[in-house]
Amino acid sequence: MSIRRLPEALVNRIAAGEVVERPASALKELVENAIDSGARMVAVRLASGGIDLIEVTDDGCGMTPADMALALERHATSKLPDEDIEMVATLGFRGEALPSIVSVSKMTLESRPLGAEGWQRIVDHGVLASEGPAALPPGTRVRVENLFGNVPARRKFLRSPRAEYAAALDCMKRLAMARPDIGFTVEHDGRRTLAVQSGMTRPERVAALTSGELIDNSVGLDFEREGIRLGGIASLPTYNRGVADHQFLFVNGRPVKDRLLIGAVRGAYAEMLARDRHAVVALFLDLPPTEVDVNVHPAKTEVRFREPALVRGMIVSGLRHALDQSGFRAVQRAVEVNWQQEPIRTSQGDIFTAPYTAYQGNYAARPAFPSLAESRSGFAIRHEDLAPLMGRAAEAAEPVPESQSHPLGVARGQVANTYIVAEAEDGLVIVDQHAAHERLVLERMRAAMAAAGGAVPSQALLLPQVVELDEPACDRLEARIDELSAFGLDLERFGPAAMLVRATPSMLGQGDAKGLVEDLADDLAAYDEALSLRERIDHVAATMACHGSVRAGRILSVPEMNALLREMEVTPRSGQCNHGRPTWVKLSMGDVEKLFGRK
Ligand SMILES: Nc1ncnc2c1ncn2[C@@H]1O[C@H](COP(=O)(O)OP(=O)(O)O)[C@@H](O)[C@H]1O
Ligand SMILES: [Mg+2]
Repeated sequence: MSIRRLPEALVNRIAAGEVVERPASALKELVENAIDSGARMVAVRLASGGIDLIEVTDDGCGMTPADMALALERHATSKLPDEDIEMVATLGFRGEALPSIVSVSKMTLESRPLGAEGWQRIVDHGVLASEGPAALPPGTRVRVENLFGNVPARRKFLRSPRAEYAAALDCMKRLAMARPDIGFTVEHDGRRTLAVQSGMTRPERVAALTSGELIDNSVGLDFEREGIRLGGIASLPTYNRGVADHQFLFVNGRPVKDRLLIGAVRGAYAEMLARDRHAVVALFLDLPPTEVDVNVHPAKTEVRFREPALVRGMIVSGLRHALDQSGFRAVQRAVEVNWQQEPIRTSQGDIFTAPYTAYQGNYAARPAFPSLAESRSGFAIRHEDLAPLMGRAAEAAEPVPESQSHPLGVARGQVANTYIVAEAEDGLVIVDQHAAHERLVLERMRAAMAAAGGAVPSQALLLPQVVELDEPACDRLEARIDELSAFGLDLERFGPAAMLVRATPSMLGQGDAKGLVEDLADDLAAYDEALSLRERIDHVAATMACHGSVRAGRILSVPEMNALLREMEVTPRSGQCNHGRPTWVKLSMGDVEKLFGRK
């Protein structure tokens, strides 16, 4: 076989394979160019999620006609004047975005430097179609149409316009967060969907792009150590989300999706958040360019640190310090004692296994108690709502017999308004009321779905509630309206960026429909495409159950506590909450005696 040099057109198409994966990646490159051009204002127009059209207009420095021709050539860049790639201070530097994009689309490039005339160049899938004078204000406008028109295989792999739009919007939010000094607008299919003005402060911009609630539920960060600076904001552990896509990470002003950084954030919150909940953060790491290599991936979203351990340590300690300063206490570690590990036999003869059987002895190695890792907006349940939830209103109201034959014992009291302490024949039982109740609600939902007819009863809200969400979240919920209504949740689309809640599952009682709908939208974002219908239903049920549960922090009466214990004894899988954490632990009488040196 003879070796030959590939023609430039083919080289560009090969590069496009890496640089332009989908409309959002082309958009990212164009907006980065606009930012690098010194623009104060960047306007984006998309059609069909960017598949039909991506247009980026800026008021930056513009290009001369000669530069416009050069810009479309491979490895042509104005951004490395000293040919020193180590010191790159712009978002672009590889000189391959425009030639890659132009090789797989029809591009109209218009540009006008300050004090000069405008010029236009139309290039159709790598071939110059026309050029000539153009009328436009100083700056640059790039239109990309018919993306992947000549790459059917790639085009086939694109997802729905809605999904492509969601990816494009996420990309815009990240770029806009990096540069609060620049104004950004996004228009999709003729509608304005994002607008932030120039000259905002960083916290203002972060709030504008996430949620105003974040400001009241977060701490600010500003640390410097060994030339590395860490700034930004981080949510309190109690303000968390079901998916990790609200973690915005920047290295030297560049949005990145870096494993090391994501891991460091997770590490910092490790003992304060349930494993399936995620903090909301916007972290800006600034370090000397020599400490970080940004040239490790064609899309420039990954970086490599010269001293990863130092960076990781700084993020973990920086976040923890900031959270501690906020007066927040991390969950205390439990003492090291031998909790019950033997199965218990219930009155029905079932083996009722203590949830900790899998962990041998060492309590400290087990998962931390979940108390503080509550969902951000659990349903607050009123007293009257609780009786039907507990199932046995009548029984619960009667005096509790002082018999200790129940495996989970008889309630003796409540600690920290969160744990039920019960006395069993053979030991001391501690129950996490929220975790336990959440499990019971889930099992009830499953039972209702499995019953003939298979629908969870719902209760209409007196006043339908409007829940504002971003557009992709509304789209996902709207696509699942029928499934959700089988769960007793009646939703309706309410304009582009809101949902109307008409009814909620009656077994959840009165509560905060907003939090429930927000968490469901997060769930769908995370699992919608990955899971089968069956699994998805379980997720929806679990999310709903969490919102229908007795919150930690709610005072329970003794009959309520006993009703909960009795229901746990007859409910399958009640030893674990829906997140896999234990719902109860037991210290045997023998161990209690050991603790006091009686044995
Ligand atoms: N919006 C724009 N305004 C001004 N110049 C631009 C713009 N977009 C691209 N350019 C010029 O075209 C060159 C090539 O762009 P690109 O292919 O994205 O490579 P890179 O950004 O890595 O330099 C840039 O270096 C810049 O000089
Ligand atoms: Mg570029």
